[in-house]
Amino acid sequence: MKFKAGDQVILTTDKGKSWLIKLQLGENFSCHLGSISHDNIIGKCPGDSWTTPKGTKIFFFYPTLNDFLFKLTRRTQIVYPKDIGAMLCYGDIRSGMTVLESGVGSGALTMFLLNAVGTSGMLVSVETRKEFVELALNNVKKFFDPIPKQWNLVVGNIENIAFNYCFDRVVLDLPEPWKAVPNVSKIIKPGGIIVSLSPQITQLQWTARELKKHGFRFLQIFEILKRDWHIDDRRSRPADRMIAHTGFLLFGRKVNLPSD
Ligand SMILES: C[S@@+](CC[C@H](N)C(=O)[O-])C[C@H]1O[C@@H](n2cnc3c(N)ncnc32)[C@H](O)[C@@H]1O
Repeated sequence: MKFKAGDQVILTTDKGKSWLIKLQLGENFSCHLGSISHDNIIGKCPGDSWTTPKGTKIFFFYPTLNDFLFKLTRRTQIVYPKDIGAMLCYGDIRSGMTVLESGVGSGALTMFLLNAVGTSGMLVSVETRKEFVELALNNVKKFFDPIPKQWNLVVGNIENIAFNYCFDRVVLDLPEPWKAVPNVSKIIKPGGIIVSLSPQITQLQWTARELKKHGFRFLQIFEILKRDWHIDDRRSRPADRMIAHTGFLLFGRKVNLPSD
């Protein structure tokens, strides 16, 4: 589909440098490599390119969710794609589900959860700090304009917030997730899955202990390591550097026990 005014487009070089723009008639895109009028991008197709005066090819694409994630305004640590992939897969977060998320922070994970539950599902996101609610709202609005109808963003504390219905899945990215467990255990459906991400393993140790006390079983705790490779005519070896640590993931399932 050809680009038109109002579309968001990602401009990217072979080396991975990229810029996200919204096409507007009469506007210019400028970077250290040169400048191009938006009018010259309008009418082009995804995968087309522009060769800058310095000879660099810049390709045009519709942005992916990953592109959005790396371009959003961040004022908190965000969840990285390698962890999001595992959270969605092992947390079994799918279209049509009712999912509770807390905290919201910059809204990076929120975008993927909204996409996963789709228009037939519902995402409720709970965040204590109003400024992060605003930030996440602006980030989601920028990329998903209009704001998805399946999203309910609430200022509140996950440790005591009440709902008159229960959730299929609960996803936590909190500094003290263990404190949320007693409340979460009341608002997750039997058989529901909890997912929690924490940078320190002690956080998960305390969370796991609390989960067992509140009727969660089948706990799995692991981390995802992603190592990039250089493959070309001269090289086929791992990259020198990697993001070695982001967080540890925990998954658990709510069961019905007589003592619960
Ligand atoms: C690491 S950030 C979340 C980042 C987010 N997942 C993202 O990808 O952008 C943690 C958030 O949890 C919020 N938070 C901390 N304690 C909370 C609580 N008890 N209830 C709700 N939100 C809380 C913080 O204000 C902060 O915004």
